[in-house]
Order: sequence, then structure tokens, then C-alpha cells
Amino acid sequence: MKKQVAAFLLMTATLGSVGGLARADQQMTPAEHRRLFLKGAELWPVYCNQCHNARPPSEKAPVEWNAIIMHMRTLGNIPPDDAQALLEYLKSGH
Ligand code: HEC
Repeated sequence: MKKQVAAFLLMTATLGSVGGLARADQQMTPAEHRRLFLKGAELWPVYCNQCHNARPPSEKAPVEWNAIIMHMRTLGNIPPDDAQALLEYLKSGH
């Protein structure tokens, strides 16, 4: 029983943090989008060239970048703020 409760809490916490990114995205002002885009444009060559050639924003659809950044931020140990800026740049740079 305790294990089931722990699993449920873990699941809720995980889903909550993923949902948090999406909610933050919807509440952002245009100025905040612009600030994140510019930060992402600066960080993109720094982070994304470390392990392979930095993939250009046009290579994937915005929805694909969501999943890719979830994966790459884990591999590269990228802080959440930087990951969000990178995502903003990659998704709007078409
Ligand atoms: C710590 C190393 C590392 C960093 C930093 C990193 N990647 Fe990756 N990336 C990988 C590895 C390893 C793979 C292939 C294996 C895998 O998917 O785990 C990969 C695969 C990819 C792919 C899939 C290529 C394809 O089309 O099959 C994309 C796209 C990508 N990375 C984009 C990025 C972007 C954008 C960044 C910057 C935010 C980034 N990566 C940062 C290691 C890294």
C-alpha cells in the first residue's frame, strides 16, 4: 500500500512539472517570449554543439522540439531556465 502511494505521488510530481512548463508558456507576455528567444539564440551554439552539430530550428517541427528538449536537457544537464529559452528559440526560429 505504501509503495502504491509513493508511486502515485511520484507520478503526480512528474506530471505536475511537465504541465508547469506548458502553463508558464501560455501565460508569457510577448516581451517575455522575445527575451527568452534572444537568450535561446545565444545559448543554442553553446549547449547544442557540445556533443554533435547543433541542429537548426528548421530541422524539426515545434512539437518535435518539445520531446527533443526533454531528452537533451537530461543528457546535457541543462538548467530549466536555459532549457526553456532554448525551446523558445528552436520552436519559433522557422
Ligand atoms: C550531453 C550531450 C548532448 C547535448 C548537450 C545535446 N545533445 Fe542532442 N543528442 C545527444 C545524443 C547522444 C544523441 C543521440 C542519441 C540519443 O538520442 O540519446 C542526440 C540526439 C539529438 C537529436 C536527434 C537527431 C535525430 O534527428 O535523430 C537532436 C535533434 C538533438 N540531439 C538536438 C539537440 C539540441 C537542440 C541540443 C541543445 C539544446 C542538444 N541536442 C544537446 C547528445 C547531446
